[in-house]
Amino acid sequence: MTVDLRGRSLLSLVEETPEEIRSLLDLAAELKAAKRAGTEERRLVGRSVALIFEKTSTRTRSAFEVAAADQGAHTTFLDPKSTQIGHKESIKDTARVLGRMYDAIQYRGAAQSTVEQLVRYAGVPVYNGLTDEWHPTQMLADALTMAEHCDKPWSQISYAYLGDARNNTGHSLLLLGAKLGMDVRVGAPAGLQPDPSVVALCQEVAETTGARVTITDDPLAAVSGVDFVHTDVWVSIGEPADAWGERIEQLMPFQVDADLMAATRNPAARFMHCLPALHDTDTAVGQELMDTHPELKDGLEVTDEVFESSASIVFDQAENRLHTIKALLVATLA
Ligand code: CP
Ligand code: NVA
Repeated sequence: MTVDLRGRSLLSLVEETPEEIRSLLDLAAELKAAKRAGTEERRLVGRSVALIFEKTSTRTRSAFEVAAADQGAHTTFLDPKSTQIGHKESIKDTARVLGRMYDAIQYRGAAQSTVEQLVRYAGVPVYNGLTDEWHPTQMLADALTMAEHCDKPWSQISYAYLGDARNNTGHSLLLLGAKLGMDVRVGAPAGLQPDPSVVALCQEVAETTGARVTITDDPLAAVSGVDFVHTDVWVSIGEPADAWGERIEQLMPFQVDADLMAATRNPAARFMHCLPALHDTDTAVGQELMDTHPELKDGLEVTDEVFESSASIVFDQAENRLHTIKALLVATLA
């Protein structure tokens, strides 16, 4: 069956069918192989994509810029500091301006309602490059990476997400597993568990796809038998720095260390993280937190030992941001 995604936006993955998600993953795998073989065809020559970043980014920005360039398209990076966006011009007006000049818009910022407003007023496809609520382009990379590292069909692949499960990554991983009919578990303490409306949505989706959705406050139960262990930063972009103290206390039992990886009882279990990760003292934030919280010892959400181990596939995952974002651009714009 051919899946036609031309002209479509990507806001959260809520609207996308399992077939549409799988078709993007198939296209990403094809584009990845073509790039490696030197046979990639440029299908977006003459197209242009506006990249609005109200929050910082390394991977998402780079992936959109390189993916577009590989395909012959042009990008413009727009942030609030060097544009009128926000302080002098509303998103509604910005959408109507950019929609006249660009074939698509990527938006990263806080509110999901901003992405929705862009869709309403721009008249071109809009891609959510991360909001407080969702991180759908990350999910395409995570799914492709899991498929590459596991021979099982989707319905037999299991993964756990440990950490702040109310954040964009926690919500999105829950929805991804539900959509693809996977065995998805969330391990998080009370207070950091996914929003009940997201859990209800995922359970409803799971009934149609055969997915198994488990939410638990027991990290060992969450990882038992899984193929992949995912985590994310404990305090997300935009949250106050004074959240760290309480967050560390709540999430220490969910830190991904060697014991937790062993608790999967699966020697082939792999570690995943959307990145950036706080796993050593080589960053200002990591250094300060590890200096002031001696209980952290070898890292924050993941120990340096696990991050640097052969079980860690985080850089394959990061590379796949490029191939999957390219698939999204090609599928919606070519
Ligand atoms: N994973 C991810 O979205 O990375 P960036 O914040 O660097 O874009
Ligand atoms: N939850 C993280 C994801 C970063 C890619 C954040 O929002 O900061």
